[in-house]
Amino acid sequence: MRRFKIAVLPGDGIGPEVMEGAILVLKAVEKVYDVEFQYRYADVGGAAIDRWGTPLPDETLMVCEESDAILFGSVGGPKWEHLPPDKQPERGALLPLRKHFDFFANLRYGKIYEPLIWASPLKKEVLGSGFDIMVVRELTGGIYFGKPRELKDDFAYDTMIYHKWEIERIAKVAFETASKRRGKVTSVDKSNVLYTSLLWRRTVEEVHRNYMDIELNHLYIDNAAMQLVKNPGQFDVILASNMFGDILSDEMAMITGSLGMLPSASINEERFGLYEPVGGTAPDIAGKGIANPVAQIMSAAMMLKYSFDMDEAYDRIDRAVAKTLDDGLRTRDIYSGKEGEKLVGTMEMASEIAKRVGDNNAQVR
Ligand code: IPM
Ligand code: MN
Repeated sequence: MRRFKIAVLPGDGIGPEVMEGAILVLKAVEKVYDVEFQYRYADVGGAAIDRWGTPLPDETLMVCEESDAILFGSVGGPKWEHLPPDKQPERGALLPLRKHFDFFANLRYGKIYEPLIWASPLKKEVLGSGFDIMVVRELTGGIYFGKPRELKDDFAYDTMIYHKWEIERIAKVAFETASKRRGKVTSVDKSNVLYTSLLWRRTVEEVHRNYMDIELNHLYIDNAAMQLVKNPGQFDVILASNMFGDILSDEMAMITGSLGMLPSASINEERFGLYEPVGGTAPDIAGKGIANPVAQIMSAAMMLKYSFDMDEAYDRIDRAVAKTLDDGLRTRDIYSGKEGEKLVGTMEMASEIAKRVGDNNAQVR
């Protein structure tokens, strides 16, 4: 029997509700595979500010350090927006966590589920046969962390800096990822303007020499943003710096039809990882039991795959989600009111998915 310790950090807003849904699915996984999960809950973000006066208490960091993976909900909300910038949940918890564990590789996965094509803001003709994209975003460098930076009354600046080794290691992740998918990497930069992008493009080409079976192309960020809504089917893996990847992954999330569906993995060289939904805390619907748990559930699935090498369990959860959607179950964000759909809350959606994880015959049409 394999045992894994999971640090569970539900955070704020819908975080705790969707986390409960994800745990339900992990329990179903335990019944199918010879594995046992131990959950250690810790406060983070606004919840930690309210209780401990700080968004990332030492205690929470310790729980993370002693675990095999971190399952993260989301942090932030209007309640803490009056605080000084560096004390707010995002800047005070999420960014330091990424830096502390050197989670340099952020994988954000977007695909369109066939029964949800109508929910995408893109026209059917543009979507064609859908899309399936992995954004590989550099997460611990670039303008997010560059020094010096300063905020004065009449001027302010940030520093965008990339070291060659930082570009090399994220490019490797992108090529490796593509080799297990459809074999294509699109690297995004702004090398017609930025020096950091010139180094980025040059380095990506160098790393590519070790992956000649992978197709590589380059797009400027502005063009990439346009191509993503013009013809999303052209992309397999998108490789991007911290800020460009941030922007493109939100755009990708939007065209899948619901922000509530997108999972992500943030991993370091040791494949220790933090797994979180892309969507955020959704304060407007928090506490109502109506949030879509799929992003959190698929984030847990990514944890199984990337940190615990449980690829088959990942596929099983993925199929269970697809089957649940096929069977017409819908949280409010993906409900159209068509015949055959059933509107359900967070926990019912999660338990329907958990049920199908346990069902050996979970075949998708
Ligand atoms: C994300 C978020 C964060 C980021 C914010 C909350 C700091 O937008 O994870 O994409 O910009 O990285
Ligand atoms: Mn973002």
